[in-house]
Formats: sequence, C-alpha cells, structure tokens
Amino acid sequence: MCGCGEPSWGWGLCAPSPILLLSLLLSAAPFGLLGEETRQVSLEAVPGWPGPPQNLLHIRAVGANSTLHYVWSSLGLPAVLLVATNTPHSFLSVNWSRLLSPEPDEGLMVLPKDSIQFSSALVFTRLFEFDSTNVSDVTAKLPGKPYPPYSLAEFSWNNITDSLDPATLSATFRGRPIHDLTKAFVNGSLSFRVQAFSTSGRPIQPPRLLHTADTCQLEVVLTGASPRGNCSLFGLEVATLSQGPDCPSVQEQRSIDDEYAPAVFQLDQLLWGSLPSGFVQWRPVAFSQKQRGRESALPCQVSPLHPTLAYSLPQSPIVQAYFGSQTNFCAFNLTFGASTGPGYWDQYYLSWSMLLGMGSPPVDALSPLVLGIMAVALGAPGLMLLGGGLILLLHHKQYSEYQPIN
Ligand SMILES: *[C@@H]1O[C@H](CO)[C@@H](O)[C@H](O)[C@H]1NC(C)=O
Ligand SMILES: *[C@@H]1O[C@H](CO)[C@@H](O)[C@H](O)[C@H]1NC(C)=O
Ligand SMILES: *[C@@H]1O[C@H](CO)[C@@H](O)[C@H](O)[C@H]1NC(C)=O
Ligand SMILES: *[C@@H]1O[C@H](CO)[C@@H](O)[C@H](O)[C@H]1NC(C)=O
Ligand SMILES: *[C@@H]1O[C@H](CO)[C@@H](O)[C@H](O)[C@H]1NC(C)=O
Ligand SMILES: *[C@@H]1O[C@H](CO)[C@@H](O)[C@H](O)[C@H]1NC(C)=O
Ligand SMILES: *[C@@H]1O[C@H](CO)[C@@H](O)[C@H](O)[C@H]1NC(C)=O
Repeated sequence: MCGCGEPSWGWGLCAPSPILLLSLLLSAAPFGLLGEETRQVSLEAVPGWPGPPQNLLHIRAVGANSTLHYVWSSLGLPAVLLVATNTPHSFLSVNWSRLLSPEPDEGLMVLPKDSIQFSSALVFTRLFEFDSTNVSDVTAKLPGKPYPPYSLAEFSWNNITDSLDPATLSATFRGRPIHDLTKAFVNGSLSFRVQAFSTSGRPIQPPRLLHTADTCQLEVVLTGASPRGNCSLFGLEVATLSQGPDCPSVQEQRSIDDEYAPAVFQLDQLLWGSLPSGFVQWRPVAFSQKQRGRESALPCQVSPLHPTLAYSLPQSPIVQAYFGSQTNFCAFNLTFGASTGPGYWDQYYLSWSMLLGMGSPPVDALSPLVLGIMAVALGAPGLMLLGGGLILLLHHKQYSEYQPIN
C-alpha cells in the first residue's frame, strides 16, 4: 500500500524567516479590501431545450457601472466563460438550436457586444490517473506511469437544476463516464461545484480562499471511483484561451500567513493579461478527506502552460459559440498528491478548490492574528531585531498549530 512514511514534499512548507516577517510587516496594507463595488449576484439555470439535460448555468453579478457574467456548462465537456462588461444592463443571449448544432458559432452571446471589456474561458478536458508506485522523487517530471486518461467529453452529467440552490448561490455538475467499461465509476463521480458570492468573505472549509462578489469558486471533487492501482495519483488537464501569441503564466505568491490554509504559504495565480483582466487563484493544496485539515492535505502541482492546437482538444460548444472556431488554446496540468503521505487511496476522496474572477484579484491582507502579533512586536522596537522575529514565530506556531516538517 502507498501512504506509509512521512510526507516529504516541498510545496512551500518551509517556515517563513523572521527577516521576511519583519519586511512584510513594514510593507503590508492590512485594509486593502475596502472600497470594492457591491454587486447584485444571481444564479440561474438557463431554460433549455426538450430532451436530455443541457446544463447551462448563468451567474450574473451586476454592479453600478458593470456586469460580470460567468457561464458554466457541461455541454460537450465542463467549461466556463468569463465575460466582463462596462454596463449594468448587459445580458446573455442563447440560441439553443444553433448552440446544439455542429456549428455553434454565435449560438451564445453577451450583448451589447461593444460593452464587453474582457472575455476568456476555461475548459476541463481530461482526468488523469498515474501509478506512483516507484516514484520517490517528488520533483520528478511525471507523477508516475499514466493510465489511459478519462476524457471529460465522454462523461454524462446530472441535471443541474436539481442541485441549484439560490440561497447559497451554488450548483453542482456531477458526472461519470458514459462507457464505464472497467466499472470504476459504479459508485463514484467527478463533480464540479460552482458557487457565487454576494459579499466578500471566506468559506468555512480550507483552503478558505478569500472571495468577493466579483468572483466565483469551483470545487472539484472526485469520490468513490475505484483507482486502477494501489498508488494512484490523479490529475486534471485544463485548457484556456491565449490572449495573443503567448500563453498566460502562473505566478506563485509567497505569504507569511497560513492561518486560513494551515501550512500552505503559497498562492498560485493565473492572469490572462495586464490588470484588470481575469484571474484564477488557488492554494497548491488538495484534500483526501471531507474533513479538511493538515492531516488530509496533499500537494497540488501545476505544469507550465503550453500552446495546444485546438483540434487536439475536445471542443466545448459554449466556447466555440462565443469565440468562434479560430481560437488559440493553451493547456496545463494539475496533479494532486504524492506517493507518500495521505492520498486518494485512504478514503477514495479528493477535493481541490479554485477561485475565478475578473478585475483585481482579492489580496490576502494579513490576518488579525498575525497583525496582533506584529503590533506586540512593534511595541518593543528595541527587541525587534534580536528577539522579535523569534517571538512572532513562536506565537504563530502556538496559534496556528503549525509544525514545520524536517
Ligand atoms: C431538470 O430538472 C428540472 C427540475 O427538476 C426539470 O424541470 C427539467 O425538466 C429537467 N430537465 C431535463 C432536460 O430533464
Ligand atoms: C459610474 O458612472 C458614472 C457616470 O459615468 C460615474 O459618475 C460614477 O462615478 C461611476 N461609478 C462607479 C462606481 O464607477
Ligand atoms: C437561431 O439560429 C437558427 C439557426 O442558425 C436561426 O435560423 C434562427 O433564426 C435563430 N433564432 C434567433 C431567435 O435568432
Ligand atoms: C517498480 O520497481 C520494481 C523494481 O525495480 C519493478 O519490479 C516493478 O515492475 C516496478 N513497478 C512499476 C509499476 O513500475
Ligand atoms: C459499489 O457499492 C456497492 C454497495 O456499497 C458494493 O457492493 C460494490 O462492491 C461497490 N462496487 C465497486 C466497484 O466498488
Ligand atoms: C496492492 O496491494 C495489495 C495488498 O497490499 C497487494 O496484494 C497487491 O499486489 C497490490 N497490487 C499492486 C498492483 O501493486
Ligand atoms: C498532461 O499530462 C498528460 C499525462 O502525462 C500528458 O499526456 C499531457 O500532454 C499533459 N498535458 C499538458 C497540457 O501538459
């Protein structure tokens, strides 16, 4: 069995140095969240077409001078369109007969077209499974020997209307392979839970990404599917549109504050262009139990983005309907877990969250706890350089139950 031995991965688990703490102390802007626009956020399943469910979920966030649209769909394969407009009156227009035809171009539009300030898309193309039996080096290029991937274009999805909850502004796409020849998904599913927010805040469960009314959250959960080996790691391939000749890049931001995501001092961020544009944020951590915490935390690794020929990817009708077929794609892989430590094999459960948004990404201000500790340290400026850093570390350790590994 996998999963014995101490976790030995290196995903930012090093303790922040006192010098870093002190320099951040001088530069941190703790109230960077004030002054954001308030929005009226609504979520609806776009009424469809008679026949099998054609899931189309529209999140509309209306502000004083702008509207953000998120259109989620499992049509073809799971995908989301992000569209920002500079009017509170823009709307989504769907021509179902065109959208469901072999040439869906212009079957889905946000109108008026001249109000559009930004648009892009994410498409979830394949679920990977790797045999990590003989992989001991976590920095290895591959997480293990790949099994044949599951194409998400060959999944069938539930009727989104049944899981739609206007109170929490959430809905869940739950899918399993149409031709489940190995019966791996008899008791299993892959789900994409989408949630919008009418105010800013943090969910109760880690990784507790900071959200605003400009953003929505995606939680990917693989549960109950039989792995094909004893040491299976899973991965997800994601494609996006490239703006211009280059692919967007993923930036890694360091933070000294792990209060909301224990022992994770990193935030990864994909930006589509210079700000304000669109962004995706996530903590490089996934969880192997519903009860999320340090004991069930798995590392999440991201590959660089590569240009990909559109014809080598399964097509998403909503992306083609909105952007046309002449589009350049970039793709990247996320992999979850390592051959040691907790893993999917423990409870046949894996969850990972990310935040999508348009405008300026929410910036993690220092938590009140860390600020308080810093204020204490500031009160003793004479000790600051010598002992302050140490005190900070000790307090931090005590309150967040942080234990450095190694
Ligand atoms: C999806 O579910 C809703 C509510 O349960 C129902 O009204 C609708 O007809 C269903 N759609 C399809 C295509 O089955
Ligand atoms: C919205 O637009 C009006 C008129 O152009 C302007 O006066 C106002 O400051 C804008 N409000 C915001 C929140 O940008
Ligand atoms: C929807 O698309 C079809 C086929 O392209 C077209 O014939 C029809 O007029 C369109 N409907 C609307 C309301 O635009
Ligand atoms: C792992 O390594 C052992 C010994 O080198 C080898 O016999 C075995 O086939 C390998 N297993 C996999 C899945 O590669
Ligand atoms: C699915 O669940 C049923 C009932 O819990 C169990 O009997 C069966 O063995 C499971 N099948 C697989 C492939 O795990
Ligand atoms: C999986 O683990 C079981 C029990 O430890 C062992 O009998 C079996 O050979 C292993 N299978 C593989 C493919 O390593
Ligand atoms: C993702 O990983 C799989 C399996 O290793 C590989 O075939 C595929 O090309 C990778 N995709 C990207 C975009 O790197």
